Amino acid sequence: MPCKPLLTWYAIHHRDLPWRKTNNPYRIWVSEIMLQQTQVKTVLPRYERWFERFPSMDSLAAASLDDVLKAWEGLGYYRRARFIHAASQHIMTHHQGHFPQLFEEMLALPGIGRSTAGAISSFCFHTATPVLDGNVKRVLKRWQRDEQLNDKQLWHLAQSAIDQADDAGLWNQAMMELGATVCSVRQPDCAACPVSEHCLSSFDVQESIPTKKVVVKDLYWQVCVYQHHDKGIFLQQRPATGVWAGLWTPPLIELPKKPTKKPQHIHLLTHRRLHLYAHTPTNDVDELEGQWFPSLDQIALPTGIHRLFASIHLKL
Ligand code: ADE
Repeated sequence: MPCKPLLTWYAIHHRDLPWRKTNNPYRIWVSEIMLQQTQVKTVLPRYERWFERFPSMDSLAAASLDDVLKAWEGLGYYRRARFIHAASQHIMTHHQGHFPQLFEEMLALPGIGRSTAGAISSFCFHTATPVLDGNVKRVLKRWQRDEQLNDKQLWHLAQSAIDQADDAGLWNQAMMELGATVCSVRQPDCAACPVSEHCLSSFDVQESIPTKKVVVKDLYWQVCVYQHHDKGIFLQQRPATGVWAGLWTPPLIELPKKPTKKPQHIHLLTHRRLHLYAHTPTNDVDELEGQWFPSLDQIALPTGIHRLFASIHLKL
């Protein structure tokens, strides 16, 4: 992959994103974790808000896990919030509160794999460590016109490319930007691509790369909304694994088959389509595990539950 045309294109066309204007490792780390599984447009409004809530590593490490989960609300894949919290405490204990500079030490932190470490290390410490996220993998496979390339081969290609770049951080940003904007999954814009001349798939890329089909399973959930004029709403904490792990929801009952009535909300996750049916039980909560909450301000609820509450006009 030739460096110059890609970097020239990036210099002109890159999106103005806040995490590209800093080399503060704490800020870059948080942005990279947010961006692992969440789209740029969703992360954007959350980025500055995070630093208002947790301005420094020590403020994050000192916070409770519930506070961190609350700040993560709406970003999805909450495992990342637990990782970021655990990692901040590890950094306080083992690195005097400074984000580690050594690649191997970054890799030892929860939630950081080789690609995320590659990004942080190249952006903050100028190491020639490639990023290999989904976008970059797609770019490399199309460039080589080889959908079968395995991770080992892709890392090798990514490393050879970055070894030729003067500024590894800029190279990584440019590769990610190309994948996110021009060389997109469904409609690659080969006419706008700065490296199309060198790409073995240009202009017929849609035929050459089939898109992966995700199998989505339908689940039908009754959402038991217990409300009390003084105590508020009754919520249970979800188990530590599975859908909405560790978040708070009203008691949920999985229905054995699709009800005839329409759900008040359908929420799509990567592998699940959740059909949510609000139900107001008349029994007491005596036997149930859980807690009453007078408001939802301090507690992390899944976006699907917030949407359901909005659709039934539930107010606290
Ligand atoms: N996705 C992952 N890291 C990113 C970054 N630094 N900029 C834009 N998108 C990204």
